[in-house]
Amino acid sequence: MFRNLCFRVQSIALLGAFGLSAALAAQTPGSLKDAYKGDFLVGAALDAAQIEGKDARADAIVLAQFNTISPANALKWARVHPKPGKYRFKLADRYVAFGREHHMFVVGHNLVWHNQVPGWVFRDDKGQLLTRDALLQRLKEHIQTVVGRYKGQIQSWDVVNEALDEDGSLRQSLWLKIIGPDYIEKAFEYAHEADPQAQLTYNDYNLEKPAKREGAIRLVKKLQAEGIPIASVGLQNHDSLTWPSAAEEDATIKAFAALGVKVVVSELDVNVLPNANQQPTADVSLRVGRNKALNPYRKGLPDSVQQQLARRYADLFRVFLANRATVARVTFWDVTDGDSWLNNWPVKGRTNYPLLFDRQGKPKPAYDAVLAAADRKP
Ligand code: G3I
Repeated sequence: MFRNLCFRVQSIALLGAFGLSAALAAQTPGSLKDAYKGDFLVGAALDAAQIEGKDARADAIVLAQFNTISPANALKWARVHPKPGKYRFKLADRYVAFGREHHMFVVGHNLVWHNQVPGWVFRDDKGQLLTRDALLQRLKEHIQTVVGRYKGQIQSWDVVNEALDEDGSLRQSLWLKIIGPDYIEKAFEYAHEADPQAQLTYNDYNLEKPAKREGAIRLVKKLQAEGIPIASVGLQNHDSLTWPSAAEEDATIKAFAALGVKVVVSELDVNVLPNANQQPTADVSLRVGRNKALNPYRKGLPDSVQQQLARRYADLFRVFLANRATVARVTFWDVTDGDSWLNNWPVKGRTNYPLLFDRQGKPKPAYDAVLAAADRKP
């Protein structure tokens, strides 16, 4: 309880770095990283504005509240390796420098994905699909270059992202079609060679759904049987107010714990708007047309929903805490409600409220609920 009562005024350094209003915005009772110290790391994803110091308000929150960062976009293939033989590391370098300067646990996201990967990666000079060997060579070169550049500086890599379909089978990506199912093993091997100390993660959404979870369990077991160093499974947790239930979340974490891997909650947010799609998903390619009924809180979030969100976050954190021997990190996907990708997905231009800090950078009731949940250690 003491933790939550003590009013933590962040350091004078914040005043110098970000100005008075940003420092004031970072003044909150307690801090997430302190509340969960010894349980798991707590972090946020940063995009270009925060990495480049153009969003002082969010940066002040990040420094005050979090001890780990993830790159929302800065390390995706299309960003760092847009053309054959051409790498662009400026933003990624600044991201890693930000984390190191502030002694944070720095996450790399991601090395292999079916999105945000340029078309040329899969084709030769004549536009023909590459052979298995040629694509493996390209994958190896990419991973060695990117992981090698940040060896010892990025502590954990999302090596393969979203390789599973909803039924638990492997997604029919070009990686799978050209290389075959062992593209996953190969990616982990290349990453391990490039930085043997880095913690390697398989990252996906909807692993709380039994069929998809079983697919991930099969995948982890296969990697383990082959001696591939997989350290953790990333549960993205792009959640809604009702799904997944606390029981489903708990069962999912325990299922991976039973395999001897850690769990990282890698991309947490809670959508409060009406579902625009039938089933839960975080598939970035999904697009739904604008519709007023899908954007009901343009002028503000009703208090009843604000409280529902707070209870929802408290429930989730109670589950994470109950599994603290397995859960190594909980990372929010973006910093404030205004930054969230959920304002533009799957419907463009909505006003969503999925995070702990509002559009002014002020902590919401959900923030207080997450802090309070830390006091109820099982
Ligand atoms: O930076 C460009 C800007 O220059 C351009 O004017 C603008 C026009 O659309 O696009 C900007 O890039 C956008 C980028 O986000 C930065 O805001 C891309 O179009 C947009 O596709 C991209 O979306 C990202 C999405 O992944 C696709 O890569 C989201 O920010 C990011 O939050 C989201 O993150 C994913 C995880 O990587 C994997 N799991 C799901 C999660 C949420 O979709």
